[in-house]
Amino acid sequence: MHFNTAIATLSVSLSFSLASPATTYYPSGGCPPISGDFNVSYFQLYPEGFDYDPVHCKAYFGSLFNSTVLRKDLSTGEEEVLTFPDISENHTYHVSGVQYDRKTGAMYFSANNGIAFSSNGADLTGPNRFIKYNTSTDRVVFITDMDSVVAQLNALTGYQYNGFQDMAEDLAGNAYYVTSLGPSIFKVTPDGTPSIFFYLPPKFINGTVQSNWGGIFSVGNILVSLDNFNGKMFRLDTTAKDPFKDYTTYSLADSPVQVHCDRTYPPPMFDGKIVLCSNDGNGTYVLYSNDLWQSAKYLGLAASPNYGGIPTASCQIANSLYTNTEYFLDGVTFDKVGNRTDFPFTDITQKVLQLTRSVGIDINVD
Ligand SMILES: *[C@@H]1O[C@H](CO)[C@@H](O)[C@H](O)[C@H]1NC(C)=O
Ligand SMILES: *[C@@H]1O[C@H](CO)[C@@H](O)[C@H](O)[C@H]1NC(C)=O
Ligand SMILES: *[C@@H]1O[C@H](CO)[C@@H](O)[C@H](O)[C@H]1NC(C)=O
Ligand SMILES: *[C@@H]1O[C@H](CO)[C@@H](O)[C@H](O)[C@H]1NC(C)=O
Ligand SMILES: *[C@@H]1O[C@H](CO)[C@@H](O)[C@H](O)[C@H]1NC(C)=O
Ligand SMILES: *[C@@H]1O[C@H](CO)[C@@H](O)[C@H](O)[C@H]1NC(C)=O
Ligand SMILES: *[C@@H]1O[C@H](CO)[C@@H](O)[C@H](O)[C@H]1NC(C)=O
Repeated sequence: MHFNTAIATLSVSLSFSLASPATTYYPSGGCPPISGDFNVSYFQLYPEGFDYDPVHCKAYFGSLFNSTVLRKDLSTGEEEVLTFPDISENHTYHVSGVQYDRKTGAMYFSANNGIAFSSNGADLTGPNRFIKYNTSTDRVVFITDMDSVVAQLNALTGYQYNGFQDMAEDLAGNAYYVTSLGPSIFKVTPDGTPSIFFYLPPKFINGTVQSNWGGIFSVGNILVSLDNFNGKMFRLDTTAKDPFKDYTTYSLADSPVQVHCDRTYPPPMFDGKIVLCSNDGNGTYVLYSNDLWQSAKYLGLAASPNYGGIPTASCQIANSLYTNTEYFLDGVTFDKVGNRTDFPFTDITQKVLQLTRSVGIDINVD
């Protein structure tokens, strides 16, 4: 650990002396700038996923066990809880992934089957829903029932896929909703129609299905994920004639450990070249690509304190980068609700920028 830190420090100072990185100014836009750590205090919030709407300056925190979403204006403190019929307070569902589509202003929520995760992949038969929310009208656009397309995939392959959590979108407003227990991607059109888009055979160890894709992100029409089973990057062009033939996988360059990612997220301030990978452990790995993710390089770890929980997601809020802390061990058993009220969010902006400077990317976020 000390060895890796020393190397990282060395390469940072080296690139400084060779070529000073160009500093780009990143304005917070119309939203009030934010910096420093904060808590979101709401009983049983347990936010596993969160994202930010920079048009209306509101953060959306998924409440994992309640299957609600807390929408909050972090500068005024104004907040409200969004509920979804048949889903909220229904313990069949966990709301994990939360994802803002900057192109359409939609916010997506994953209302996924809880048992798939709490059973560690032993029970993969439960239902899943995919929610699209309009941040301008404050209305649900659709709640898509994924069960018939998942059954179709089961009939096609003989495998049970489940463990939905993350999503990404293309330039045409389609969303791609991904399973991690068995790697599959379902396409959901702007009006909410789901179809099978891509899949690979699940990986099993001793009869138990393993987690492949924790997160997915898009840059333009390119979908990218990291396979937690083998640590390899996965890239697919959504406009390819045959995704099953055109996808690629490759190793992450310069990675000192096998990288494991939960949410993978490209902060808008870096224009798709930097991705933050929440490592479900001690922080957020910072990944870099300068060729639209045909190759990628590990830059380092932005460590966070995590206060007894683990980081599962990161997000740019106005002009700063934040990681959450999720507490999976507060309940009577793993992945069950506890009685916590304060949920810490850690400002990792400067730690991330320290790493991006090694590849000549520097941003003045003031
Ligand atoms: C974080 O965890 C990784 C393994 O996932 C380890 O290699 C690294 O040393 C840890 N870093 C710190 C700062 O604890
Ligand atoms: C968050 O809440 C905890 C108590 O639950 C407290 O110890 C900590 O100081 C708070 N952090 C911030 C940034 O307010
Ligand atoms: C979660 O549910 C509990 C119990 O109904 C309620 O008191 C709390 O306000 C809810 N929190 C959220 C964020 O939905
Ligand atoms: C909870 O969800 C399950 C699965 O969709 C459904 O069968 C059940 O009716 C729901 N329960 C409530 C109280 O909404
Ligand atoms: C949100 O609603 C507005 C007004 O009806 C519409 O113009 C816009 O396309 C909607 N956006 C999404 C993502 O549904
Ligand atoms: C699989 O099962 C065998 C026999 O019980 C055991 O030795 C091995 O450690 C298991 N492998 C894993 C990865 O759990
Ligand atoms: C949460 O608090 C309630 C009410 O005090 C208690 O019955 C329950 O056991 C607590 N849950 C946990 C996981 O500690």
